[in-house]
This record gives sequence, structure tokens and C-alpha cells, in this order.
Amino acid sequence: MDYRNIETTAAEPYASSMIQTFRAIGYNLETAVADVIDNSISAFSKNIYLNSEWKGGESVITILDDGIGMNNDELVQAMRPGAKNPLDERNEKDLGRFGLGLKTASFSQCKKLIVVSKKAGFTPIYWIWDLDYVNKTSKWELIRYPIPEEFSHALDKLESGTLVVWTELDRIIPPDTSPSNEIAKDKFLAQMDKVKQHLAMTFHRFIEERTVKIHCWGHEIKPWNPFLHTETATQSFPEEFIGEAVMKGYVLPHKCHLTEETYQYADGINGWTNQQGFYVYRGKRLMIAGDWLGLFRKEEHYKLVRVQIDLPNKLDSKWQIDIKKSTARPPLSCREQIKSYAKTVRNRGVEVFRHRGKILTTRKQQEFQPLWLEKKQGQKYSFIVNRDHLMIAELKHLAESEPSKAIEYLLRFVEETVPTKSVFIRESEQGETAEPFEETNLEVVKTMIRQIYNAQKASGKNTEQIKILLANMEPFNNFPELIEIIEEI
Ligand SMILES: Nc1ncnc2c1ncn2[C@@H]1O[C@H](COP(=O)(O)OP(=O)(O)OP(=O)(O)O)[C@@H](O)[C@H]1O
Ligand SMILES: [Mg+2]
Repeated sequence: MDYRNIETTAAEPYASSMIQTFRAIGYNLETAVADVIDNSISAFSKNIYLNSEWKGGESVITILDDGIGMNNDELVQAMRPGAKNPLDERNEKDLGRFGLGLKTASFSQCKKLIVVSKKAGFTPIYWIWDLDYVNKTSKWELIRYPIPEEFSHALDKLESGTLVVWTELDRIIPPDTSPSNEIAKDKFLAQMDKVKQHLAMTFHRFIEERTVKIHCWGHEIKPWNPFLHTETATQSFPEEFIGEAVMKGYVLPHKCHLTEETYQYADGINGWTNQQGFYVYRGKRLMIAGDWLGLFRKEEHYKLVRVQIDLPNKLDSKWQIDIKKSTARPPLSCREQIKSYAKTVRNRGVEVFRHRGKILTTRKQQEFQPLWLEKKQGQKYSFIVNRDHLMIAELKHLAESEPSKAIEYLLRFVEETVPTKSVFIRESEQGETAEPFEETNLEVVKTMIRQIYNAQKASGKNTEQIKILLANMEPFNNFPELIEIIEEI
């Protein structure tokens, strides 16, 4: 198409309405703060300080870093929506993509965004996005009016760095909230605590590798590692490449191999069952924490399975990374490979979940003796007591001298060990388990029916009464045809 001699008319976005759209991208407080911290990390900060001050409707959140900072031109450019072209190639350590994060994350939470920045050798400068001003004037204009000294002087002791200030946090605190409103204050503090947890998770690799320290209200936060990599009972799988991305599977230890404290730690923000799935990292920054990316469902028995996926930022468009850096979609061409790798890890995860990891971990030299065996008949599963189990041999032995005691012991063991978890897993996967004595030789059932019939007859009951008795007794109620011909059995 030749665009040189064609008719045109301007159709620029209205600043006042467009900026409202920016507010609706769908961040929450945690993801918004993380997006600002992305910028601090990309700017090579060593320390990042998150602070908040409760002042009711005038509360403030600040994020200060000691990164490379910006001079006036760079700051104006940084505060411009669409500061960079998403198609531009970026340094592999750069966590940005769209040139929007600073603005969209901030506006999703507040009406006033102040950015103060200082580049080494320059004096600090600041600019303000004031949404009330934009609304009134419908102009894409940054403004500058006096700001408290605590902000304008925040960078005095640093050679370089940037301070992001959010005030009029109307999306999390209604504007007319009084500072003495204790309920609102507690809610705000609880939200900030969630932010801290989210940061410990999102940036755990940077914190572990000591690339950066994140301080929340003066306290350095500790990393939250989803894979319990320091636990000896954690099982890890070999890495597998998906093009330029890499997968690595982990099966976390069964609860019985963890201290209560570690078990609670691994519970994370969303709880064990919800934390299963893929952990997608983009340049070491956790983007998705526990999601099967539409390939599987989350189920209780897979709760020990977590699979790391590392994406370099050059795959952003192939994996359809969104502005908030909170979703990704594996390209169609690699879905099967990812699925098959994850299946292997999931299968191991189920075994550890069921057998408490006994077979797979500590006692490998001695073959594991389950009391229950899983049996497949056609498409259906059933569970049988393992006749070769040493204890069964011992019980038979006991039965020779003390039969009632032996039977009672056997029943107790069966009662205590019914494999409910395995049955549950099979039922939820296959939808069906076998009915009692289905597809097996009925001799055992017949013998028991005959025994009961003879004993009841001897105690004076007639055939009809015995038929009613058996029809209401498990498992014989499943065999009306045998009950019908009871006299011939
Ligand atoms: N704390 C900071 N220190 C130094 N430069 C910064 C800082 N924050 C933002 N910038 C500059 O401002 C630019 C715009 O930031 P913004 O978050 O809006 O977009 P981005 O990081 O480029 O991409 P994305 O939309 O994916 O976050 C950054 O690319 C960076 O050059
Ligand atoms: Mg950014």
C-alpha cells in the first residue's frame, strides 16, 4: 500500500478517557507493586525499599531503589505511556516489554504518581502524573508542584536511584477514609502484608542469588522458593529444552518427610493444592505461580508436583506475555512436549503422594510391601489385600491357635489401611472402580451364602426370611440371582 497520497483525519485518543482505560488493566496491589519493582531490577538496583504510611484516604506507598536512575529527558520518556515499542529487542536481563508498566500499574492503584529520579552526576528531578489534572484538561501532560521534602530529598544519600510515590490510593482506600478508621487500617496492612509475600515469591531467585535485597518497612524479605530445593526428599527431574525455554520438574516431599514449619512454608499464598502446576519464569522473575496452563486440572493428588519453566524475554510474543506479566500461553507447537514431560513428573508425584515416598526414597534397598494392591480388570480398578504380605502369613499362623483373635486382627488392619486415597484417585481419573466380586470367580460368595443359609436354617428361619436377610446384607445384596436359587447352591 502506498500511503503517500491518501486522505487522513486525526483520531487521537482523548487523554481523560484513555487514562481511565489504563486504570482497568486488572492489576491488584501485589502485581502492581511487582511491576514497579521489575523496573528497579532492570535498572540494576542492589536495594529496593517498599514502604507505606497509613493516613486514611491520604495514605502513601513508596518504592525506592538505588538503581541507575534517570535524568530529566529519560524520566519524561519513562513516564510517557508507550515509552518503548514492544517489538524492540531488549537486553536479556530487562524485565520490561511494553513501555507501559510504570504507568498502568500505578494508575491501577492511585490517582497521583510522583517519580523522583537521580542519575549519577545529575541533580534529582521529579514529575507528576495527576489524574485529576488529566481529567480536567484532557491533556497528556506531566506536571510539577511542590512535594513533601521526604520525597524530594529521598535520594540525597544515594549516588543514583529512583523513588516512585503513590498517593490518593482510591482503588484500595476510599478517599474520605479517616486515619482513625481502624478497620480500614487493618485491611490496608493486611493487603500490604500480601504484597510482601508476593514479592518474596515473585523475586525469590534474585534474592537467593543476592542480585538484589528487597526491604519492606525496613526488614529485608526472605525468598519463598516453591521447590523446597534444600530438602533432601525433594525429587528433581532432568531439565528439558522446549526450543529456547527450559523445563525442570520437581516432586516435593510427602508431608511426613517435612517439619510442620516447612510444610506450612511450602503452602505458599494459595495452599498446597492450588500451588501445584507450572511455575513460569521470565528472566528469573516468576510470572505464573502454580497453574497447569490449561493442560491439566488441579487435583489434590498432584499437589506435590511443581514444574519450573524458564522463558527468555525474546519468547514474549510466542508465549503471548501480557502487560501485567501474569499470563503466558505455550505455543501450540510445544504443548504436546510440555504435556508429556509434565505427565512423567505428575505420575511420580502421585506415587509419592500415595505411598508417602517410601518406595522412591529412603528404603529402596528393601522392596516395599504394600498391604493393598491395585488390580486392573478391563477398564476398571479394584483393590485387593496383598496375600504375600508377611503379616498375612503370620495371621494364618495365629489362626491355627487363636482363630478369633486372628480374624479380629485382620479386620483391624483392613479397617485401618483401606486405601481411600488410591480409590479416590482412580475414581476421579477413570470415573469407575469395580463392584465387589465383579468379574471374579463367585465360589467364595457362593460358599458364604451356603454357610449363612445353613446356619440360619438351623436356628429356625425359613428360606424366605433368609433370602430377605441376605438381600439386605453387603455384599450379598449385589447377587440377587444367587439368593434366588439359594437352595441349589
Ligand atoms: N526505577 C527505574 N529506574 C530506572 N529507569 C526506570 C525505572 N522505572 C522505569 N524506568 C525507565 O522507564 C521505562 C518505562 O518503564 P515502564 O515500566 O513503563 O515500561 P517498561 O518497563 O519498558 O515495559 P513494561 O510495560 O513491560 O513494564 C523503562 O523502560 C526504563 O527505561
Ligand atoms: Mg516496566
